[in-house]
Amino acid sequence: MSKKIFSGVQPSGNLHLGNYLGAIKNFVELQNEKDTECVYCIVDLHAITVNQDPKELKKNIRETLATFIACGLNEKKSIIFNQSSVPAHSEGAWILGCIARMGWLNRMTQFKEKAGKDKEKASVGLYTYPVLMAADILLYDSTHVPVGDDQRQHLELCRDIALRFNNEFQTPNFLKIPESLIQKNFSRIMSLKDGTKKMSKSDPSDLSRINLTDDKDKIINKIKKSKTDTMPMPNEEENLKDRPEVLNLLEIYSSLSNSSIEKSKMEFSGKNFSDFKDKLSSLLVEKIEPISKEIKKLLNEEKHLDAILLGGTEKANKYASIKVKEMKKIIGF
Ligand code: AMP
Ligand code: TRP
Repeated sequence: MSKKIFSGVQPSGNLHLGNYLGAIKNFVELQNEKDTECVYCIVDLHAITVNQDPKELKKNIRETLATFIACGLNEKKSIIFNQSSVPAHSEGAWILGCIARMGWLNRMTQFKEKAGKDKEKASVGLYTYPVLMAADILLYDSTHVPVGDDQRQHLELCRDIALRFNNEFQTPNFLKIPESLIQKNFSRIMSLKDGTKKMSKSDPSDLSRINLTDDKDKIINKIKKSKTDTMPMPNEEENLKDRPEVLNLLEIYSSLSNSSIEKSKMEFSGKNFSDFKDKLSSLLVEKIEPISKEIKKLLNEEKHLDAILLGGTEKANKYASIKVKEMKKIIGF
């Protein structure tokens, strides 16, 4: 059976190495697999669950698209579009919101993290965000959803919603139950300043992450300033549980060189930290600098970028509008 892939990325600017290694690198590999149809969505409706400056949002949508293309996604092979241009996503989210239960949403840890201490002030959209995500996935009969580890719980919720819909309306196979594709390794890249915190767009310190738009000098500087500890480079046997920063840098190195953490430990065992950091910087420059240059080039081609989205929207609309129509019929509309 052929695989149907769906994934989404928020256009919130500053796409970083975590997004690349945890998600986009995988998107490109899936796009190039046989018997696989891929749909990649810039989830602008999800982005407005927190305040956005309209001009910035427009810029960020183009920047996310440019990043997709620069990383190797190809609009001829994958459907690439932005969520708000396909109305079925909002319609589907409303319907599925009437299927999901408050108790299920109350368990979502990402809402608790994002809403922070003052939950009363969070938008209702931020709370129902995982329902919209379920609509995204289910409208395309997706079989597999590649995401980073932080989205695991949302995927489980999506499956629960689909099962409940199918049960309630006695339409056993109408909504397909998707599987998450979470990489076994390197699915959680951590901050360069604190190995216990996820690398994130919203970290106020730019030194905490490698942005996919960083140039050579920035990359080298950020690795130089990245946090380590005073102990020597670990040997193969050492458990790095209590050395999260060192583990993270070794994971980044291993992921970029398509190697295992054991091999990387072996390669640097007994060496100086500065040797390791030099090697890591060169590898990052080799892999990230071409992406960064391509993003900058593409950002000057607004018409080209907008045409890609328009083409993708047309294709996505065809799929999603049929599915939502069937959904409405089942419900009794
Ligand atoms: P977002 O920017 O939150 O829309 O995330 C886009 C994709 O990148 C999702 O699949 C996330 O799980 C993944 N992602 C975000 N941050 C990280 C990280 N630090 N490590 C690994 N994957 C990440
Ligand atoms: N919630 C995801 C994130 O923040 C983005 C997203 C929205 C998504 N819709 C999706 C991911 C559908 C996978 C499938 O990373």
